[in-house]
Amino acid sequence: MNIAIIGYGKMGKEIEKLIEKSNHTLVSIIDSEEEWAECEDELEKADVAIEFSTPSSVVSNIKKCFDRNLPIVVGTTGWNDAHEELKNLCLEKKQSLVWGANFSVGVNMFFAVNKKLAEMMANYPEFDVDIEEVHHTAKLDSPRGTALFLAHDIVKMASSKLGKTESPSMSTPVISSKRISNTPGTHIVSYQSDNETIEIKHVALNRQNFAQGALIAAEWIVPKKGFYSVKDVYDF
Ligand SMILES: NC(=O)c1ccc[n+]([C@@H]2O[C@H](COP(=O)([O-])OP(=O)(O)OC[C@H]3O[C@@H](n4cnc5c(N)ncnc54)[C@H](O)[C@@H]3O)[C@@H](O)[C@H]2O)c1
Repeated sequence: MNIAIIGYGKMGKEIEKLIEKSNHTLVSIIDSEEEWAECEDELEKADVAIEFSTPSSVVSNIKKCFDRNLPIVVGTTGWNDAHEELKNLCLEKKQSLVWGANFSVGVNMFFAVNKKLAEMMANYPEFDVDIEEVHHTAKLDSPRGTALFLAHDIVKMASSKLGKTESPSMSTPVISSKRISNTPGTHIVSYQSDNETIEIKHVALNRQNFAQGALIAAEWIVPKKGFYSVKDVYDF
C-alpha cells in the first residue's frame, strides 16, 4: 500500500517509523498548507492518507483528500462540529474516511469494557463515578477526546436505564485532568460506594499504539467507500 502522511509532528513521525518496518511504502509527507501544491505528483501515487495535523487544518485536509479520491484515516481531534458536514460530503462524493479520537487497540477494548461496566452500574445509584485523565504537558486543552468519549458512553448507558433507576452521578460524570511531562496518556474510570471501589485503567506507554491502530485502519479503509469511525474497524 502506498501511504501519504499528512501532519509530520509527533504522530506523523511515529507512523513513518512503522511504515519503514512494514511492507507498505511512504510516498509523500505533507506538513503545511503550502506543501500540498508541491506534493501533487506524489499524492497521485498514494492509496491512502493518514492525517494527524491540527484542529485548524484537519477539515481542509479532509476536503483536499476527497477532491483527489484519496481514502483518509483521520487521527486529529477537535473537529466534532464539522462531522456532520464532512459525513454528508463524503457520502455525496462517494469517498472513504475513517476517524477516531483514539486508534489504540487497547483503548478501544477499554471503551467496550467502560460501556459494559456503565450498563451494570446504572442499576446501582449508590456508586459515584469519576473519570481521571493524565496527559503530557503539551496538551493544553482539557478534557481531551478520550475522556469525553468515556463520559459520553457512561451518560448514554445511564439514560438508557432511566425509568428503572436513576444514577445522578452517571448522568454528569466528573472529569479531572492532570498534566505531567513525558506521559502519553492515562485514563481511569472509578466507581465508589461507601463500601467498595471498582476501577478500570488504561495506560499508553508510548505513541506507537496510536500509530499501529492508524495503520490497521488504513489497511481496513482502502477497499471501502463511506464515513466510518474506529469502532467499525475493531467491532468490539
Ligand atoms: N486519534 C488518535 O489515536 C490520536 C493519538 C495521538 C494524537 N492525536 C491527535 O492527533 C493530532 C496531532 O497530534 P501530534 O501529537 O502529532 O501533534 P503535533 O503538534 O506534534 O503535530 C501536528 C503537525 O501538523 C502539522 N500541520 C499544521 N498544519 C498543517 C496542514 N495544513 N497540513 C498538514 N500538516 C499540518 C504541523 O506542522 C505539525 O507538524 C492532535 O489533534 C492530537 O490530539 C490523535
